[in-house]
Amino acid sequence: MHHLSRRAILMGGLGVSAAALSGCSSTAVSGFGSKAHGPVPLATPSPGQRVMVKTLVAKPTTLDLGGPTVATWAYGDTVPGPLIRATAGDFLRLTVDNQLPADTTIHWHGIRIHNPSDGVPGVTQDPVAPGSLFTYQFTVPDPGTYFFHPHVGVQLDRALYAPLVIDDPREPGGYDAEWVVVLDDWVDGTGRTPDDVLKQLVGMGGSASPKGGMGGMGGMGGMGGMGGAQPWGDAGDVTYPYFLLNGKVPAAPDVLTAKPGQRIRLRIINAASDTVFTVAVGGHQMTVTHSDGYAVVPQEVGAFYIGMGERYDVVVTLKDGVFPVVAKPFGKSSGGQALGLIRTSSGTAPGPDVSPAELAGPVLIGSRLQPAASSRLPARAPDATVQLTLEGSMQPYLWGMNGAPFGKNTPLTVKAGQRLRINVMNMTMMAHPLHMHGHTFALPSGLRKDTVLLAPMEQLAIDVDADNAGDWMIHCHNIYHAESGMMIGLHYVS
Ligand code: C2O
Ligand code: CU
Repeated sequence: MHHLSRRAILMGGLGVSAAALSGCSSTAVSGFGSKAHGPVPLATPSPGQRVMVKTLVAKPTTLDLGGPTVATWAYGDTVPGPLIRATAGDFLRLTVDNQLPADTTIHWHGIRIHNPSDGVPGVTQDPVAPGSLFTYQFTVPDPGTYFFHPHVGVQLDRALYAPLVIDDPREPGGYDAEWVVVLDDWVDGTGRTPDDVLKQLVGMGGSASPKGGMGGMGGMGGMGGMGGAQPWGDAGDVTYPYFLLNGKVPAAPDVLTAKPGQRIRLRIINAASDTVFTVAVGGHQMTVTHSDGYAVVPQEVGAFYIGMGERYDVVVTLKDGVFPVVAKPFGKSSGGQALGLIRTSSGTAPGPDVSPAELAGPVLIGSRLQPAASSRLPARAPDATVQLTLEGSMQPYLWGMNGAPFGKNTPLTVKAGQRLRINVMNMTMMAHPLHMHGHTFALPSGLRKDTVLLAPMEQLAIDVDADNAGDWMIHCHNIYHAESGMMIGLHYVS
């Protein structure tokens, strides 16, 4: 059966009609956030707290992706934007200088942040208008690998993203060097902007390929049969001309130079808007040490999946030679991949299409990692339980949560101090990376995540301790799904 009709039928069968999801006739949920907000004062540093101050200039620019030159919007003149690095406990005062021709904000993805600096327009702040500034002020309480991006429209699918690394002053280390690896799917400035892509998806009912083909898996997705070899069903809607690793196409890869025998920590961030990747380092096993910033029981793998918004830290002991770091898009008919190189000697580099054997072996599903003892929530029964269903269809292109698109659905509520259990049910034939702002939830195994990839029809109970008051977002990190309504509020009530 054709994958689009499969989804449509599924929705019908579950009694979620397109009309129920559609709410209004306008295409997208404007601004990726819509309600008015009350004034909540920004945080200020405590006496003696170390303060880091930086300004990010969001502006139109032209970037060289290693061959293709594209007009886009970026933080400065690079993609990814400048790395921000601080130590757990620091206070950050980060100003966005909006030189874009559109409103923007910055969301600090994964940070257990003070609510007024969360960057959601219409919820935690007014949008930052063209020509104006906004200063985010917050403590970074937890170490880990994070990133930041706008929370307006589909701006994430431009070059507006950059890594945010929070160091742990108590961490033993156990590695010699580090490489931050940011993955992306790229369309902006290749004849279409991400706004054009969204318009195509909404207007044409799900096809955002320039030739009118399908971006998904065709008939191959299914429900994750084949021994889990194809677990994500229809993984993406958009056909991308390029996939980038640290802002470069495979023809001109970013290179890490190191010495044989060195232990390298890779901090891998999926900043893509519509692409799940399979990641491998040719000729090497990786030891996964952290997921979304939190320590896991170290696990040796040849390859792993990474959904949009997820981060994994791995340690690799380097051999002698030149090795590809490959991120292969899952379920994209267009082909292509993202590539970087690790060079420890003067060998010949593999070509842009290199396909390491590790990609064909077992691939770790990150949500099956086990938490390190230090990452577990204290044992406790939930005080309250709520349901969260993920729904949608490609034709028409409508996505929602709990029966309606964002703005029409009812926010989840929690009382401060409660442990909330959220029973999540993915009622679609696509995988969705579910992201929660301001908190890191626990899977039934105890694994801590702020973004978890749900397989088609997967059910998952996630527990969250309500220890960070405010109005928060829970949404799919496929930015086209989120902007089309696959988002819901999480509100603290008294
Ligand atoms: Cu990285 Cu609300 O998103
Ligand atoms: Cu989604």
